[in-house]
Amino acid sequence: MITLGIESSCDETSVAVLENNFIIRNCIYSQTEHSRYGGVVPEIASRAHLEKIDWLTTSVLEDSSMTLSDVDLIAVTDSPGLAGALLVGISFALGLHIARKIPITGVNHLEGHIFSVCLEHPELPFPFLALVVSGGHTAIYKVNAIGDYTCLGQTVDDAAGEAFDKVGKMLGFTYPAGRAIEQEAAQVTTSGDISFPVARVSGSSCDFSFSGLKTAVKYFVADKSPEYIQENRPAICHAFQKAVIESLTGNLLAASKQTGISRVALVGGVACNGKLRDTIKLRFNNSVFFPSPGLCTDNAAMIALAGYKRKLHALTRFPHMNPSSGL
Ligand code: KG4
Ligand code: ZN
Repeated sequence: MITLGIESSCDETSVAVLENNFIIRNCIYSQTEHSRYGGVVPEIASRAHLEKIDWLTTSVLEDSSMTLSDVDLIAVTDSPGLAGALLVGISFALGLHIARKIPITGVNHLEGHIFSVCLEHPELPFPFLALVVSGGHTAIYKVNAIGDYTCLGQTVDDAAGEAFDKVGKMLGFTYPAGRAIEQEAAQVTTSGDISFPVARVSGSSCDFSFSGLKTAVKYFVADKSPEYIQENRPAICHAFQKAVIESLTGNLLAASKQTGISRVALVGGVACNGKLRDTIKLRFNNSVFFPSPGLCTDNAAMIALAGYKRKLHALTRFPHMNPSSGL
């Protein structure tokens, strides 16, 4: 079965072609337009998707030596995300569906991230725990089957990637700052006497909070000279990253204890972080699966795979946009 995947929920326009669960093509256009603003500007994102989506689809099909007549299923991200950005992908996909009578399914963006791990690890058995950790989301799901998820915990404020990006902005890095913070932190082996708090959320052992950590870094740098910050930036990044990793790892261990499941998928943009990968691998005795970095960040191959799995299990659904919906 040939699936055409379309992803436009935030600042990546991506189109992919999958043959069953194998990637034929997965093209991602990352919008650089936002870096000067320090975060994603929704109107700019929508316009950029609109400018790219048509030619990206044409060139992905051409590069796959296919035409729309070869496509058996369209899978499009329909929630959650920026409303205007989602609308571009959904409208485009619906246009193809109506004009060419190609079956279609909506796919939840988080479901796409969860199954991104199966592009390279198709053998991963259910049930498993998925830590979805990106710029817009931080949550732990028990994945029972395709379409059957139990949320065990989620952030009550900022997402982990959002904290990386906001702290990065305070320290003079451009958006998105996750990778730059990781590289800066790697210049030192210890944060010395700099440390930041790891938030515990009362009520649920698996919920996250990152806004206090972000504020702690803000107050820490507020009364320091630019020279001090420049000199100690690696240690500040090291301490910040350590606090984020401790929070993510601690809650994942709590979820594992609660469910008795020790098989873990680490997905989403922040899953690119090598220190996070190594820490979780160590704590879960290597029973950890993650996508290669290019498939951690937003891409259409993961949407196509989730759509294909939905089709196999008769779970396709007409795209319905709900920008704030979780899984
Ligand atoms: O999954 P993604 O592409 O978009 C969302 O769905 O949000 O994730 C983007 C996020 C950004 O916040 C970025 O700073 C973060 O992933 N990120 C990282 C790393 N690479 C990307 N965070 C920490 N360490 C990294 N190496
Ligand atoms: Zn994402």
